[in-house]
Amino acid sequence: MCGIVGYVGSQSALDVVMAGLKRLEYRGYDSAGVAVLADGGLAAAKKAGKLVNLEKALVEGPLPTGSTGVGHTRWATHGGPTDGNAHPHLDNAGRVAVVHNGIIENFAVLRAELAERGHELTSETDTEVVAHLLAEEFSATGDLAEAMRLVCRRLEGAFTLVAVHADAPDLVVGARRNSPLVVGVGEGEAFLASDVAAFIAHTRSAIELGQDQVVELRRDGVTVTGFDGRPAEVRSYHVDWDASAAEKGGYDYFMLKEIAEQPKAVADTLLGRIDPSGSLTLDEVRISPQELREVDKVVIVACGTAFHAGLIAKYAIEHWTRMPCEVELASEFRYRDPILDGRSLVIAISQSGETMDTLMALRHAREQGSKVLAICNTNGSTIPRESDAVLYTHAGPEVAVASTKAFLTQLVACYLVALYLGQVRGTKWGDEIQAVIRDLSRISEEVDRVLETMEPVRALARTLAAKDTVLFLGRHVGYPVALEGALKLKELAYMHAEGFAAGELKHGPIALIEEDLPVVVVVPSPRGRSVLHDKIVSNIQEIRARGARTIVIAEEGDEAVVPYADHLIRIPATPTLLQPLVATVPLQVFACELATARGNEVDQPRNLAKSVTVE
Ligand code: G6P
Repeated sequence: MCGIVGYVGSQSALDVVMAGLKRLEYRGYDSAGVAVLADGGLAAAKKAGKLVNLEKALVEGPLPTGSTGVGHTRWATHGGPTDGNAHPHLDNAGRVAVVHNGIIENFAVLRAELAERGHELTSETDTEVVAHLLAEEFSATGDLAEAMRLVCRRLEGAFTLVAVHADAPDLVVGARRNSPLVVGVGEGEAFLASDVAAFIAHTRSAIELGQDQVVELRRDGVTVTGFDGRPAEVRSYHVDWDASAAEKGGYDYFMLKEIAEQPKAVADTLLGRIDPSGSLTLDEVRISPQELREVDKVVIVACGTAFHAGLIAKYAIEHWTRMPCEVELASEFRYRDPILDGRSLVIAISQSGETMDTLMALRHAREQGSKVLAICNTNGSTIPRESDAVLYTHAGPEVAVASTKAFLTQLVACYLVALYLGQVRGTKWGDEIQAVIRDLSRISEEVDRVLETMEPVRALARTLAAKDTVLFLGRHVGYPVALEGALKLKELAYMHAEGFAAGELKHGPIALIEEDLPVVVVVPSPRGRSVLHDKIVSNIQEIRARGARTIVIAEEGDEAVVPYADHLIRIPATPTLLQPLVATVPLQVFACELATARGNEVDQPRNLAKSVTVE
């Protein structure tokens, strides 16, 4: 949430920063701004609305050319999305410019102090205080990095800050506490950004910043210190995806591209998981097999789509390991005083690895002595770094705000973790594990087949564009799929959409059914537990009898549903537990097409951000 870019080098800082912001727009898009150092001064421009508004403003009022600059794309927290609240924020003399991601919790106190000292603050943001404090400390010390350290020591909350000062040419200073910030190192140039996507077109050599660190970027190098001024160890890494992976590649939207990439993402996430001895391996495991054998319950924490992956994981974990598994919204977790100890294994699922609710939940779990295993798509992000074990999903960069390929790979990762626990604890034999892996390896092709048959789903979605409500029903692992289908529709089409456990319908929600109300039903395989299948067929009849228009997702060969389906969407037959990997895909396509038909912005739905780094 909020995207930040900083640059120093020999290119036009404005060009580099604007291109970087374009890549980070998924993090927030309600206003944007830039500042460059040029001709001994500082020039800034900022505009409410998407980046394109800022681009227009820069055509009408160009900034002078400079080779040091910062930029920001915002997701509002303090103060509405106006020109005045957009970043960068400047001090009264207009010599320092600051961009910020996060929340400064003690800003009201600091603001009152500054007002007493005669500063005039003009925005409603928490960020503006930092510009004024930095200006004060810089005039006292003449050192922007030292000024940043002094200011950061006074700030409470979570923040990434990046600043430039007109009297400190060729220098960008960044600071980080509980918010993401990565450094890119090029030849005679350096970059700072919330995400490597902002600079991979220029360099794939990156440096991770730790908590409470300040970084100084100069053309000839990077210096990192703690907030206390002590030199910090610098950890470099190579970014293993390239710029083209973050481009739309001919699709109208990133979401369409990411839906289409799912077969590859699923296959990539499975790659290299079986070692030569036939055993399953994770990426980084700092939990011993003995500790895993002693675990007596699993608790999954996650938000949004990742939470739905967790709900599905519960079925696999309990079935394959016979261990109880709870799934909790990360934002609720630590506030209910959960019962945790050294024998609880907490699994944190997060695409971005930066979701603050999930991060806080995992920290709480570790404070209680529990081990944390992260399932994450972003190498080097905070959640895996603070966890005891990691399994990376290899979905590649996901840019569209509504998660698609990350979700499917999170499911694959959850199945792998469940099998791994089964392996270590001896509840699953090696041949059983390998049989599931073989089933999983076929899923990539199955997803491909689903994608090839989506035209009728798109056509159906277009006919429903004027509807107000769509309901989703499922049983067993189909229930979280129904929740995910409804979430996609809310996020993208801004429609009233709800997912229910099909059996629960009769206890209340059935009152919502009226003539021609579209109801999507995810039908479990008749080959698994046939009783489940029979029950849902009855549920379909119940809603149809009350006028619902039924949209039935059922596996190939399931003829029992045919008489009751106003629309039938076929998916390949899979083992019962793995069905969400194919059943979710039509729901993604359905939501994307409905949103398009309603004229909505698919990649950047209103009010949302992809990476939510505030609680
Ligand atoms: C935001 C996004 C959702 C996402 C959730 C969790 O709310 O809009 O699409 O599912 O965060 O994100 P994470 O990066 O932790 O998976």
